Amino acid sequence: MHVAVLGSEEEIGKVAADRVAKVLKAKPNAVIGLATGSSPLPLYQDLIRQYQAGEISFAKAQAFCLDEYVGLDPDHPEAYRNFIKRVFTSQVDFPQGAVNAPQGAAADPVWAADEYDAQIRAAGGVDIQVLGIGSDGHIGFNEPGGSLTSRTHVDFLTDQTRRDNARFFEGNIDQVPTACITQGLGTIMEARELIMVVTGAGKADAVRELVQGPVSAQWPATIMQFHNRAVVLLDEAAASKLSDREHIQDAWEGFQRLEGN
Ligand code: GLP
Repeated sequence: MHVAVLGSEEEIGKVAADRVAKVLKAKPNAVIGLATGSSPLPLYQDLIRQYQAGEISFAKAQAFCLDEYVGLDPDHPEAYRNFIKRVFTSQVDFPQGAVNAPQGAAADPVWAADEYDAQIRAAGGVDIQVLGIGSDGHIGFNEPGGSLTSRTHVDFLTDQTRRDNARFFEGNIDQVPTACITQGLGTIMEARELIMVVTGAGKADAVRELVQGPVSAQWPATIMQFHNRAVVLLDEAAASKLSDREHIQDAWEGFQRLEGN
């Protein structure tokens, strides 16, 4: 894993957006994996800026969201398919129908999960996957204790995650759905590149486990230690419980040189 501690959310967004843009420039019909949550917003802002400046285009690209709530009205503004449209995809030039999300409102969510996994495979797999991390170490909505090799499946949110996400539901945990469809850890690990963005002290424990803890289903993001091309961008607060900071910095600088940045 390549880990960087950067100075601000904006810088994190810029470095992450540049990685997505690089993939898109090399492969205009790239399949991009999108995460919701607040951490990737500066990344999406920067991609919108690059699109508006004529530097990149999504006209041949496709996107797959990581996850979706089960049981929300499909028109609910916090349904992830609506959230991602609002904050990102409607502001760039994805073709009609190119942005996919699991069908959280399907009558049979188990079927919808299998179907979504098959759709990702049929698209040729994800070229670059954007990730955030939950304070309990989830990625997508893969909560602690699940299979480290899971495919897209129905999962159930921890109280911690529902408390964290209540801010999107008028601060009311009772409005936060209890279930979701999420790409599985095995599905996520098949993406050719992972780019994770993490900010804030609330994520410091999860980041410590992710970067320096043992791989464990109790901290699902730790599966990323097995990925050959995973980049994790942190702010100072998120990195505050890491040791060996000097080596982390040296290794990042070395990686940047190798990549020609
Ligand atoms: C949600 C999403 C995750 C996201 C996480 C962190 O639960 N399902 O994909 O990474 O929250 O969100 P935030 O970036 O808002 O802290």
